[in-house]
Amino acid sequence: MVNSNILLGVTGSIAAFKAAEIARRLIDEGFSVQVVMTKAACNFITPLTLESITGKPALTDLFSGPYSHISLSKESRLLLIAPATANTINKLSCGIADDLLSNLWLTKAGPTLIAPAMNHRMYHHPSVQKSIKELQKSGVKFIGPVSGSLACGEEGEGRMSDVATIVEAAISALTQKDLKGQNILVTAGPTIESIDPVRFISNRSSGKMGYAIAKAALRRGAKVTLISGPTSQMPPENVSFVSVEKASEMETAVLRHLPKATAVIMAAAVADFTPAAIDKLKLSKKDISVINLKKTSDILKKVGAEKGKRVVIGFAAETGKNIENAKAKLKEKNLDLIVLNDITQKGAGFNVDTNIVTIIDRKGKITDYPLMKKIEVANVILDTLTGLKT
Ligand code: CTP
Repeated sequence: MVNSNILLGVTGSIAAFKAAEIARRLIDEGFSVQVVMTKAACNFITPLTLESITGKPALTDLFSGPYSHISLSKESRLLLIAPATANTINKLSCGIADDLLSNLWLTKAGPTLIAPAMNHRMYHHPSVQKSIKELQKSGVKFIGPVSGSLACGEEGEGRMSDVATIVEAAISALTQKDLKGQNILVTAGPTIESIDPVRFISNRSSGKMGYAIAKAALRRGAKVTLISGPTSQMPPENVSFVSVEKASEMETAVLRHLPKATAVIMAAAVADFTPAAIDKLKLSKKDISVINLKKTSDILKKVGAEKGKRVVIGFAAETGKNIENAKAKLKEKNLDLIVLNDITQKGAGFNVDTNIVTIIDRKGKITDYPLMKKIEVANVILDTLTGLKT
């Protein structure tokens, strides 16, 4: 990532301790974070804590360098202030520049995001509301605050938004919206096929790959419908989420959402077989010797058969780099792309945050990718998708 610096402003709120988690998550996503703290923030979290996470001095002093209030802005792509107090919001709205952070706001060029955190009466005070409106007029985006119990023991609107929401907003603000106008249908996770009320057949899919695709597509401006089997993943914010259990439910959901979709990415590991009959009562092991199975319908093949102008992408999780098998599936299911991964390779496949994939297109072009984070694999798939469109 080129020039992926984020200036993280931290001000004097009890929520300041959450800045450590924000910094860590941004760094995990590949950004470099420069922390700038107000004096009041140092009462709630030490510069050393934040320095230990970012690997850079957490700056607190306007005079730490002769031109740091200018150069830091030039070097960064985003100013994120989290948490932002009433005092800082009021100062920024009228351009008071009496510390490093407020100076940086006057010299910054890129987008600014502010996550307020304060008592609800302070938040609703006319001076704060007026400042927020002024800042919004000049293009500043506010994340929250949300309602809930406040540190002071009162209830109301003033809690800083979740760390995940703030991090996602920061990344989204820095991501080009090249998928704007696209309506992408993504499937994820396993399906589970009941044998009786207690037992089921399923597979090892964690859903991580499909959820990463949904997240990446949202960041790039697409509308996303995520149809997911049971997983422990949290659906991204702003996704249209459909939860299903068995293959037949996934099929119904996919076919219902297909008409609106401009692209379909089937990352789900759909069960190929389901018990021929489900017992309503729990079976005793004495009664089970054989479980009769029937085939589920191939959802992707159905989508491929009625794809129209949509881009349709399938996955092939194989034990071995079986290019010929993947090519045959691409042809049989009328796909535009197939993403092959060899689940026997270290760092590829189920339940890990990385993957090693080969993408094959209709013309037979084969592109191998090295070990990457699943979010990076997701972006590579979406890059290939946009390449097909132009
Ligand atoms: N798929 C589907 N419906 C099914 C089975 C699979 O839509 N009933 C989709 C998956 O979401 C994935 C692709 O098809 O995108 C995987 O296809 P395939 O390789 O045929 O599934 P496998 O079960 O791995 O096939 P095989 O056992 O023949 O290798």
